Amino acid sequence: MSQLSYLSGSQSACESAAWSLEEANGGDGLLGMLPAPKWLSHLLGLAVLEPGVSSILLLALLALGTWILVKGLAWVQRYYVNCQRLRCFPQPPLKNWFFGHLGLAPDTEEGICYLQELSRLFSDVHIWWMGPFTPTIRLNHPQVISPLLKASAIIAPKDKLFYGFLKPWLGDGLLLSKGDKWSRHRRMLTPAFHFDVLKPHVKIFNQSADIMHSAISLGLWGRDHDHHHPGASSRILQAKWRRLCAEGSNYLDMFEHISLMTLDSLQKCIFSHNSNCQEKPSAYISAIMELSSLVVKRYNQPLLYWDALYYLTSQGRHFSRACRLVHDFSNAVIQDQRCILAQQGSEAFLRDKAKSKTIDFIDVLLLAKDEDGKALSDKDIQAEADTFMFGGHDTTASGISWVLYNLAQHQEHQDHCRQEIQELLRGRQPEEIEWDDLSQMPFLTMCIKGSLRLHPPVAMISRCCTKDIQLPDGRIIPKGNICLVSIFGTHYNPAVWPNPEVFDPYRFDISKSQKISPLAFIPFSAGPRNCIGQNFAMSEMKVVLALTLLRFRVLPDKDPVRRKPEIILRAESGLCLKVEPLLGPSSPEAHLSEAPQE
Ligand code: HEM
Repeated sequence: MSQLSYLSGSQSACESAAWSLEEANGGDGLLGMLPAPKWLSHLLGLAVLEPGVSSILLLALLALGTWILVKGLAWVQRYYVNCQRLRCFPQPPLKNWFFGHLGLAPDTEEGICYLQELSRLFSDVHIWWMGPFTPTIRLNHPQVISPLLKASAIIAPKDKLFYGFLKPWLGDGLLLSKGDKWSRHRRMLTPAFHFDVLKPHVKIFNQSADIMHSAISLGLWGRDHDHHHPGASSRILQAKWRRLCAEGSNYLDMFEHISLMTLDSLQKCIFSHNSNCQEKPSAYISAIMELSSLVVKRYNQPLLYWDALYYLTSQGRHFSRACRLVHDFSNAVIQDQRCILAQQGSEAFLRDKAKSKTIDFIDVLLLAKDEDGKALSDKDIQAEADTFMFGGHDTTASGISWVLYNLAQHQEHQDHCRQEIQELLRGRQPEEIEWDDLSQMPFLTMCIKGSLRLHPPVAMISRCCTKDIQLPDGRIIPKGNICLVSIFGTHYNPAVWPNPEVFDPYRFDISKSQKISPLAFIPFSAGPRNCIGQNFAMSEMKVVLALTLLRFRVLPDKDPVRRKPEIILRAESGLCLKVEPLLGPSSPEAHLSEAPQE
């Protein structure tokens, strides 16, 4: 009785007694069949409703409550079992119980140093808590990453947490798709990266590098990191590197110029479109740059992880606008090419392309057929083209910029590379890198690999385990967990690479490379979902680096460079290097002496 009074709050003792009596008499209908129904319906404010309605509502509420309780208990049990199963893995000290390890490795130089330290202390695998309920498993050693990277795309798909923000931009392209769609597309797209298709692109790489060396535009893209050039963004400056040097402003942000150059060549290789983006602004190229930087911004604002909120903000609206612009561009090119293909038929279309000696990626995708003779839809082609633009520009630009940085720090290796290229091109006019030259630059290749190890453009990739995955030592990664394959951690693991922080191209000397595990060096990832564009990227890097070293000496900036891991590895306030033109037939000076001075 006292319990009833307490529960009914302001109800009088008489009323409570009446309920008890009524209940004792069997209650009224359905409501009466429930335990203590009256006080509960009063408590929930259902007593004012018709008895039948309130009974149904009460039943629904009870069912909902039971469902939540069962789900909650099941979740607690799963969480408990998962924690127990994860106890075989060590974990670094937590920041606190709520945040876990969040915030311990910020996107700064200090954060990177902390990760380096973790790789030293926990040499293969450790737990990393992202808040109180989300454990992730970070893997730093070839032996433990092997089962994960070799697992099929169904067992270890990409996880939504890390890749979800790219979806509205890249759709179901190779990077984000999964299951059967991914395997079908991967098979259909592999020929697009065959050597025969890549060969003619070498000419495009040469041209794009020539444009960068001879005419560069400063600050056109609103990403003015050129701290030696305050105000550069306010003017459009058609400047040659040599002229910049003569003006005493030969400190250039490599990232800024090289990403523009990689975007230029990708646009030509994918769409056969020349936007002259290195010389004048291009709305399409600006949109791609904006999308990349908006995705990074969103990662750093957990409140905006929620789509409904994000698209209400000005950032979200800019993101939608830039996506529309990028999609419209790809679509227009696809429609144009589809029309030509329909008019000419595939044989004449191919003959035409063979005459012009280049077949772009859109052509390959339009002609691609699966085992059943089915072609890709326009939407699929658009997603794949957008994915190539995203996957290929910043990564390659980061790769090239860090090689130049490492060679600026090590003049002896820079001289060695330059000598190799000069010998290769001796007596050749014009000095252009050709396809066959790419295999004749062993030392430059070693330097590129040395730099990709020390400064991997993609520092980490993540996977979600849909099944238990057993590690070679018998420990098991329980299904349902997110795994972070740390490319950076593996490359800095002293158990794998002695003195990991030293730039030493001789580690990649072919005569020694048998000793390196194939999974110790994974800038392009490994296994079935490795980078489909790695040969394209390596070719472009070699061409651009060879021409740059032939024409310029690069020297370190006065200020130390601070690394910044975003989607790709950048430098905090741009990667500034001092650039000095060299005399020689292909140097900009030679061209300038022929050209009338402005
Ligand atoms: C130095 C340059 C590059 C680096 C370091 C790099 C690195 C990577 C890495 C680590 C992955 C695996 C991502 C993951 O599993 O989540 C990947 C995948 C991919 N990359 Fe690259 N990449 C480079 C250049 C390129 C280029 C030039 C293209 C295209 C033109 C490209 C297209 C792709 C695509 C489509 C995928 C997804 C493959 C799949 O899941 O089947 N990448 N890349």
